[in-house]
Amino acid sequence: MRLLLTLTAFSVCAFGCATTPQAAFSAPNPPAANAKLYQRLGGQPAIEAVIDDFMGRLAKDERINATFAGSHVPRLRKRLVELVCYATGGPCTYSGRDMKTVHTGMNITHAQFDIVVGHLVATLDAFKVPATEKGELLALLGPMRGDIVEAP
Ligand code: HEM
Repeated sequence: MRLLLTLTAFSVCAFGCATTPQAAFSAPNPPAANAKLYQRLGGQPAIEAVIDDFMGRLAKDERINATFAGSHVPRLRKRLVELVCYATGGPCTYSGRDMKTVHTGMNITHAQFDIVVGHLVATLDAFKVPATEKGELLALLGPMRGDIVEAP
């Protein structure tokens, strides 16, 4: 049982392991399996790397990138990082507006929402985030659909 728990603990460290494999291998204290999602994802540097990759995918996707044409990219990045950090139990305060206020009037469709989430899934897969952590993160964001989508 102890061996199993030890192996489980080493199998997490989701974003961090993929972002900086060397750091992960040399990490003296890998997060415990019951650590907060924030820690299991690899903490702040890993979350920032994931958001950067995710935003890069959004920017390249001509189905949706026009929506972000007038956006202040550094501020959007900062707030996405804060949101993920805060939502996963990290030591952050989210300084942005609530999801309904931000997205009202954009007429975002379910299809657009699915495209955005699809890019996040692609990022998490590229970073080799384990299924447990990926599922937990998506479960935190999924319920936001109701506040973000306005159009059929
Ligand atoms: C899970 C899905 C989503 C999450 C978690 C999310 C999160 C956010 C956050 C945190 C902000 C910044 C809020 C602020 O500055 O106060 C934002 C802004 C924005 N979002 Fe979303 N969003 C999602 C889906 C979408 C979708 C599907 C679209 C359109 C295709 C979209 C378009 C925008 C735009 C245009 C802005 C404004 C950026 C700016 O001008 O600063 N979002 N979103």
